[in-house]
Amino acid sequence: MRSGQMICLGIESTAHTFGVGIVSNEKGECNILANEKKAFTTQEGGIKPREAADSHVENAPAVLKRALEAAGLKPKDIGLVSYSQGPGLGACLQVGAAVARSLALAHNKQLLGVNHCIAHIEIAKALTGAKDPIVCYASGANTQIIGYETGRYRVYGETLDVGIGNLLDSFGRAIGLGFPAGPKIDEMYFKKKNLVKLPYSVKGMDLVFSGLQTAAEQKIGKEDAIDLAYSLMHNAFAMLTEVTERALAHTEKNELVLTGGVAASKALREMMDTMCKERGAEMFVPPVPACVDNGLLPAWLGLVEYKNGIRMKLEDSEVKPKQRTDQVDITWI
Ligand code: FE2
Repeated sequence: MRSGQMICLGIESTAHTFGVGIVSNEKGECNILANEKKAFTTQEGGIKPREAADSHVENAPAVLKRALEAAGLKPKDIGLVSYSQGPGLGACLQVGAAVARSLALAHNKQLLGVNHCIAHIEIAKALTGAKDPIVCYASGANTQIIGYETGRYRVYGETLDVGIGNLLDSFGRAIGLGFPAGPKIDEMYFKKKNLVKLPYSVKGMDLVFSGLQTAAEQKIGKEDAIDLAYSLMHNAFAMLTEVTERALAHTEKNELVLTGGVAASKALREMMDTMCKERGAEMFVPPVPACVDNGLLPAWLGLVEYKNGIRMKLEDSEVKPKQRTDQVDITWI
C-alpha cells in the first residue's frame, strides 16, 4: 500500500442485499478492489425483514471472505470499516452494523456509519464524473429527487407513499411476473400498443404512486397486460421525469444523475435522456452493479467522510432506520 492511500471495507444491509465492497482512493479517485453480495429473495416477492435479516446473518461470513479474497487482502490491510447506518429495515441494518463493529473491534480498525441514500449519490458522482448534479434516486423503497445546497443534500421531491421500484414489483407480482419484476416489465414497455387511462399524481414536487397501483391492478384481466404494464410505467416515469425536470430548472443545475435499482430501466433512461437533451443538461448513469444496493456504497462514502475528518465513536454506532438524506451535514463539498 502506498503512503497516504487508504483502504475502506464497506458493509451494506439496508434491505434485501448483504454486500461487502472494498475501495481505495487513488489520487482522489475511487478504485474498486472488490464488490461481493448476496441478495435475499422469495418466490412470492416482497420482503419480510426478519427473514431477510436471518439470511444476512447466514450469508455474511461467505460474502466477507469472497470480498477479501477478490481484493487479495487480509483484514489487517483495511484502514477503515464502514457500514450503512440508515435508512433501511431495522433488523437488516442491525446485521451490517454488528458485522462492521465486530470486524473493527477484532482488528482494531476505525469504524464509520454512513447514510445509504447519500452513499448512492457519492459513488455515482465518483464513477460518472458528475460534479454538482440533481440526483434522481429511484429504488424499491426510496424515490427522491436530491441536490446539494448550502451544507446539505436537499430533497426537492419524493414519494409520499411507496418507492417506484415497489410499485413496479407489486404490479409485476399481480400479473404473475415473479420477483424482481423490473427487467421483465421493462421489456413489456417497448411492446406496447395502446395507452390505458390511469391516474397521474404529482403533488407539488412530490409523488403519489398508490392510486396508480390500485387503478392498474383493478384493470388486470380487463385490459391487455402489455398495454397495462406500459401505461403504468409511462405514468410513473413521466411523473418522476416531470419533478426531476422542475428540480433542474429551479436549481439551474445542468447535470442529472440517475441511480438506484430502477435506474437499470431502459424505459426510464430513455424518458429522462429525452428531457435532459431538450433542456441541454447532461445525464449520467453509473454501471448497474453500482446503482443497485451494494457494498461499494458505504465503502466509498466512508472513505470520503474519513478523509474529511469525520470520525465516529463506538457508542454512536447504533442504526438509524428512519434517517433522512437532508439530516446529514455535508462537510466534504
Ligand atoms: Fe438503495
